Amino acid sequence: MNVNPQRILITAGPTREPIDPVRYLGNRSSGRMGFALAEAFAAAGKKVTLISGPVQLKTPHGVERIDVETAAQMYDAVAAALADVDVAIFAAAVADFRPKKVAGQKIKKAGTDRDGDPVGADPLTLELERTVDILGSIRQPLGFSGTLVGFAAETENLEANARLKLERKACDLVVANDVSRTDIGFDSADNEVLLVFREGRVQALPMQSKRELAEKLVEIIVSLDER
Ligand code: CTP
Repeated sequence: MNVNPQRILITAGPTREPIDPVRYLGNRSSGRMGFALAEAFAAAGKKVTLISGPVQLKTPHGVERIDVETAAQMYDAVAAALADVDVAIFAAAVADFRPKKVAGQKIKKAGTDRDGDPVGADPLTLELERTVDILGSIRQPLGFSGTLVGFAAETENLEANARLKLERKACDLVVANDVSRTDIGFDSADNEVLLVFREGRVQALPMQSKRELAEKLVEIIVSLDER
């Protein structure tokens, strides 16, 4: 593989899938893990492109940041950036479903309008459709041949589920964390992860700050790419 990986693409944060002009489906991802990785790769002298959903975080020094909202926008930004990349890391918590129809006007509760005609819905049923699997599209159809790292958020059978994801999405490494725990992972400052490598090896990284974890992951991912 690449002797000296220089260009790193990272996705981070949640996506927002609109319901109407004022509402969306989102999730609790803070973006901290992806931003910590971007900062650590930039500090190691790498050229980093960070594609982020809506988060409350400052852009790390020296990092090129592209802001997106929806899974579809994140896909387009990734596809446009991928040609120049040696290592691609998918830390974003991408929505798996989006409303099939986005209402053009704010959805009203059940009632009548000024003319006495019925408006709104109670109960309200939203029909959802699958979003694009960004990581699952990177090898095919997007044709990326560099080092590919996915994340897996699981609530049970961490290693087995992470390995299934690794195989399904043709990753070199999956960083798995147990999102049923409230002390780590989603929206917290610390994380504890299990690394599942393509060749079968697993490695546990104990609980530590996302910053420390990011520094270790940079070493591990760079050495993966250099083999
Ligand atoms: N991912 C992605 N695009 C999606 C969904 C997920 O790029 N539409 C990426 C995430 O960034 C992560 C990996 O796929 O690196 C796994 O995400 P996760 O939500 O754990 O898994 P899913 O593939 O969505 O599978 P499931 O929800 O069935 O566990």
